[in-house]
Amino acid sequence: MTRQVQRSIPAARSAQAVDAPAAGETAPSATSTLAPNASGTGVPRRVFLQGVAAGAAGFWVAGRGAWADEAKAATAPADKVRLGIIGVAGRATENLNEEDNAIASQEIVAICDVDANNLGKVGERFPGAAKYADFRKLLERNDLDAVVVSTADHCHAPATLIALATGKHVYCEKPLAHTVEEARRVTEAAAKYKRVTQMGIQIHNTGGNYRRVVEAVRAGAIGTVNHVHVVFPSAKWTGGDLPAGDPPAPTTLNYDLWVGPQPFRPYKKVYHPAGWRSYWHWGTGTLGDMGCHFMDLPFWALNLGRPTKVKSDGPPVHPDGAPEWLVTTWDFPAAGGRAPVQVTWHHGGKTPEGWSTWGLPQGKKTGVVFVGDKGKLFADYNMHKVLGEAGADYKAPPKTLPDPIGHHREWLAAVRKNDPTMANCNFDYSGPLAETVLLGTVAYRAGKELTWDAASLKATNAPEADQFVRQGTYRKGWGMDVLQTL
Ligand SMILES: NC(=O)c1ccc[n+]([C@@H]2O[C@H](COP(=O)([O-])OP(=O)(O)OC[C@H]3O[C@@H](n4cnc5c(N)ncnc54)[C@H](O)[C@@H]3O)[C@@H](O)[C@H]2O)c1
Repeated sequence: MTRQVQRSIPAARSAQAVDAPAAGETAPSATSTLAPNASGTGVPRRVFLQGVAAGAAGFWVAGRGAWADEAKAATAPADKVRLGIIGVAGRATENLNEEDNAIASQEIVAICDVDANNLGKVGERFPGAAKYADFRKLLERNDLDAVVVSTADHCHAPATLIALATGKHVYCEKPLAHTVEEARRVTEAAAKYKRVTQMGIQIHNTGGNYRRVVEAVRAGAIGTVNHVHVVFPSAKWTGGDLPAGDPPAPTTLNYDLWVGPQPFRPYKKVYHPAGWRSYWHWGTGTLGDMGCHFMDLPFWALNLGRPTKVKSDGPPVHPDGAPEWLVTTWDFPAAGGRAPVQVTWHHGGKTPEGWSTWGLPQGKKTGVVFVGDKGKLFADYNMHKVLGEAGADYKAPPKTLPDPIGHHREWLAAVRKNDPTMANCNFDYSGPLAETVLLGTVAYRAGKELTWDAASLKATNAPEADQFVRQGTYRKGWGMDVLQTL
């Protein structure tokens, strides 16, 4: 099928502005994309209006193909999505390569990284792409259809909010944001600007296992589910006292831009790459890192929505570092014909009572156990099994969910059709999931069970938790002023 994409965002293909990373470069707040303006969004009128136009008209595709057509990577230039990549190494490499280079085979118009080495390497792969160290500069471009955000967690929300407000579709890595409030605002922005979004929890759309579990649970394979346990044995992202001394950042890293919206803290070698996860100032620990992948399954199968209570046990709270272990329980009230249900996360060697007697498949230590009044169902990324007696004569229910076409492919297909509903992990779905996961870290740091009012984003019994729900202060010029206008 030959398709022609008509973009409502005018292509300014000659605009190959290059903002090459320079060591020690200071964030140029005077040239911020978010100077106050008449639109009231903090977005320059020129860009804002283009964003609105894109939201209203979108770009259309002549002829609506079947899902199978959409699954094929577009090869005709007119079908390619014009992409900006923000954060180009680590997970970004997988985002570029997975699903047979589904993302890398689009038109990579611009790439951005604060690490000159990483940017340089990826620049060799995409020689035609403009290079940036500052994502705000990249996001000033009005010739991009969409961006992929794979930076550290503390930069997810600012990059995503600016992208949405300037009319770009967004693929953003889990856990979507650094705080509960940011996750909510990003979700609201996606709805307001009508952009196609997807959070990076690729297992949702890889193979069919999660879908078969959702069908089994919904078909009552283990009766009424009243508890779900998620077990992740490792304590991968644990932080404690920061190393002494303030060494200079490598000359190839623009640390000021890496810090981005966060109140400035001196460089430590343990932060970059990847280690930032272990420190609250930048990351969200093991729960924030892995929670969205596994909690996705009960969220989907039981349509959990937002919790009303959350408590989190762990070792004594460290002001900087994330804990070695957590046992976190969320309460979800009855909804949509579903009974009330609790979900408990265990990491760092913690397991539910009776875990070793549940008859888990040989060698399985990581995964999700749904506990129903008629049995238990174990699942991980790749397989699932109804345990015990209930499993003996278990027959899978008929398939009701189509097999996935791939997480990136699904998002790209939705972008081509300008249809946010075609992306299964759009922020409408994944925002509440990320909020819930992040709320677990809030309860731990607040040190008490929280009664949660999701509508007002407040723990009604614990005003002291507010400092962890939202971040009071951001450095100026990083897009977080958009928070105030949504
Ligand atoms: N979906 C998954 O399976 C999966 C797996 C791993 C990581 N992740 C997520 O991907 C994200 C990145 O994780 P990682 O392990 O690749 O981290 P990382 O620190 O190894 O890499 C992040 C990259 O982004 C760059 N970067 C950081 N801040 C930037 C900024 N402000 N502007 C531009 N570039 C910036 C870094 O220089 C680096 O190249 C995180 O949100 C993480 O949770 C998801």
